[in-house]
Amino acid sequence: MEATIRKTIDEVFGVDGALFKANGTQSTTTVRVFERNGDTPAMIDGFVFQPDTLRRVMVWMASGTLPETFAKAKMKRNLMVFGPTGCGKTALISQICARTGRSMFRYQCSEDSEAAQMFGSWKLCRPLLTEEVAAEDQGIIEKGFTGVARAIERLAVSMKRVTGVGPEMTFVDGPVLRWARTPNSILLLDEFDQLPPSVAMSLNGALDGDDILVPETGERVKLAPGCLIVATGNTNGRGSAGGNGGSAALYKGVKRQNIASLDRFFVINAGYLSEPEEKALLQGQVGMAEKAAEAMAKLATSVRGRFLGLNEDAGANGEPLEFTITTRNLLNWGLTHRLLMAMGLDSTNAFKEGLRMTLLDFGSNAERQAVLDAWDNIVGEV
Ligand SMILES: Nc1ncnc2c1ncn2[C@@H]1O[C@H](COP(=O)(O)OP(=O)(O)OP(=O)(O)O)[C@@H](O)[C@H]1O
Ligand SMILES: [Mg+2]
Repeated sequence: MEATIRKTIDEVFGVDGALFKANGTQSTTTVRVFERNGDTPAMIDGFVFQPDTLRRVMVWMASGTLPETFAKAKMKRNLMVFGPTGCGKTALISQICARTGRSMFRYQCSEDSEAAQMFGSWKLCRPLLTEEVAAEDQGIIEKGFTGVARAIERLAVSMKRVTGVGPEMTFVDGPVLRWARTPNSILLLDEFDQLPPSVAMSLNGALDGDDILVPETGERVKLAPGCLIVATGNTNGRGSAGGNGGSAALYKGVKRQNIASLDRFFVINAGYLSEPEEKALLQGQVGMAEKAAEAMAKLATSVRGRFLGLNEDAGANGEPLEFTITTRNLLNWGLTHRLLMAMGLDSTNAFKEGLRMTLLDFGSNAERQAVLDAWDNIVGEV
């Protein structure tokens, strides 16, 4: 994959490029944009990039292709983005890839993750049938695909019997090796803080940019140029969700990672978009009227202020909440409102019912009431 063109930050990310101008110079930072391919994520139209976050992302991306003349020291090439649920961490990375045409290989980390799932493993594969055999089977093809499938099955078995060649064990690359072989690609280790620390350590070589030795096959895989790793999570891998420490308790299954693993990452503590940004998102992506979008974004801010996953002293603000309104939920609430109105509810009830089915029914009675009261207050004000 060759770098095709360089574009300005405004063009690629839709943010004000003036913020990225070096002091006293006229030159603007440019972004390498590659030709899209099958592993490039789909674009979300109107995705909002926050300039400060984008700047950190750009520094991290530059680390993949720094010329040797830049410095003798090696720069970190890995980025960790952590923050509350649904604030757009995964979407940020997929949209960076979508806009720059990079391939993205996503691995969903979990407590049960094993190195073999990430790197690759032996799998039983069917043999590829040769052209010749396919030609001999012409008559069967006319009988339809089921007949063909059965014939292939029979053929594979008889070939194995006669020639000894048949379904066999093949080493199939996992996301880490596919990433390592693809220039300028991004390996997304989603929910990295769920990984057992011992499994996370097996990535240290790749995090250091070293060749990957595949013990099963003896192959040595050199990292393709420009490859980068990004990890996301709800906690910083040290047992904190960005609050005073206890806030991580709401995120089940997260582990404290080995400090040596964490040391290899740049870090971004991501947060929800600002109220005006979310208002604009509701108008742009859901088609909400201005007043409604404003009230909804206001409610999100108020609920987040009481969310125990962000603030240990949330109770000081009223009923503390064990759930929050994510950006995901906010957009979903708006869409639900539209559908509920189309199904006969008036707007006032469509807002409440939409909120209930989007998230409130997950809450306790006290939590539900607290949020609905807050909504009534906001609607009364705007
Ligand atoms: N900046 C943004 N611009 C537009 N849409 C956004 C933005 N941030 C988040 N969203 C919307 O919110 C949804 C949720 O985002 P995403 O799944 O990336 O959250 P997350 O932080 O990875 O959450 P989790 O911790 O639960 O994995 C996205 O699919 C997108 O529709
Ligand atoms: Mg995510």
